[in-house]
Amino acid sequence: MPYPRDAVLALEPYAWETPSWQIARQYGLRPEEVVRMDLNTSPYTPVRWLRSLSRTLTGIRVNEYPDTSYTHLREKLSEYTNVPAQDIMVTNGADEAIEIICKTYVERGREVILSTPTYSYLRVASEIMGGRVVAVPRRPDFSDDVDGILAAVKPNTSIIFFCSPNNPTGNLLPAPSLKRVLEEFRGLVVVDEAYYEYCGQTAADLLPNHRNLAVVRTFSKAWSLAGARVGYIMAGEEVMEQLNRVRPPNSLSVISLSLAATALDHKTVVKMWVRKIVEERERVFRELKALDGVEPYPSEGNFLLMRLQSHDAEKIHTELMRRGLVLRNLSSNPQLRNCLRLTISTRRNNDRLLRRLRDLLTDR
Ligand SMILES: Cc1ncc(COP(=O)(O)O)c(C=O)c1O
Repeated sequence: MPYPRDAVLALEPYAWETPSWQIARQYGLRPEEVVRMDLNTSPYTPVRWLRSLSRTLTGIRVNEYPDTSYTHLREKLSEYTNVPAQDIMVTNGADEAIEIICKTYVERGREVILSTPTYSYLRVASEIMGGRVVAVPRRPDFSDDVDGILAAVKPNTSIIFFCSPNNPTGNLLPAPSLKRVLEEFRGLVVVDEAYYEYCGQTAADLLPNHRNLAVVRTFSKAWSLAGARVGYIMAGEEVMEQLNRVRPPNSLSVISLSLAATALDHKTVVKMWVRKIVEERERVFRELKALDGVEPYPSEGNFLLMRLQSHDAEKIHTELMRRGLVLRNLSSNPQLRNCLRLTISTRRNNDRLLRRLRDLLTDR
């Protein structure tokens, strides 16, 4: 029998999301009745960008590999982020960014610190590389326990991962906390900013003065391009040099590169989408707060975490799913007991969810 590495045998794999057609089939729904409020993606389809792609499609040289340096997109990203193009690496989504970082810095015998609960792929990618994950629980209000994190550092600690805004809790890592960690820890500090556009707070400003910082971002959330798979890493020269030894030469398609470049020409549209989502997030938060038996947590992302106080989250999750509303059930995690996470969608979808939830909570 083929025999995988020990790290793979020991791995608790990432829980893959059920596809919409399967949910529709299971609950006897039409596929268009299924609303994904569990993936933290955008409800807006970038139709114009797709049209402009379709016009240029026949000129795209799919018989050739992409420009492996991804220079065009890196230059556009440099304009957007104010980070020099040579300090930016384009990746196949933020997940590949996390993988490249782990491949570069993690191996058996090394440790990775996570502030939990957080995005689960950070653990998976670290463990695939044979690293030992040290989970430092967040405080009851979900803020990062920076004292605890620094106390957990050992000589073999390779990476401290932060996620800001944190998935699934929605809160930010305050800049002074990050600065303290960057100064007291000599290894790599990674900040996953997948939801950056919804809050506008970034660690990227600290890059010029901190050689042990890497910032990860994605086009999957605010930019409406989850299916195109484009992400990027920003880091200083030394870290970038190491990451470049590891990154695969051609992990992005010419189609995805073209879509991301088009997206960066339409920042004002993205700003408008972000504004709408943020307004909706605040409205949904207020409406949830007004419901008996629901405790929503404030969020800086495009999602909200809520704890159900008098109903079983698992049951409510199933009942919503039967009606085509798919939320993320997090209640098996002891720190997120009886919690569900919902992605902010269009006003119509959000209202549909609020109505259903209200009905279920009052048992009508
Ligand atoms: C915090 C965080 N990082 C990374 C990702 C993955 O992003 P991508 O689609 O770019 O791989 C997600 C997706 O949900 C996320 O929540």
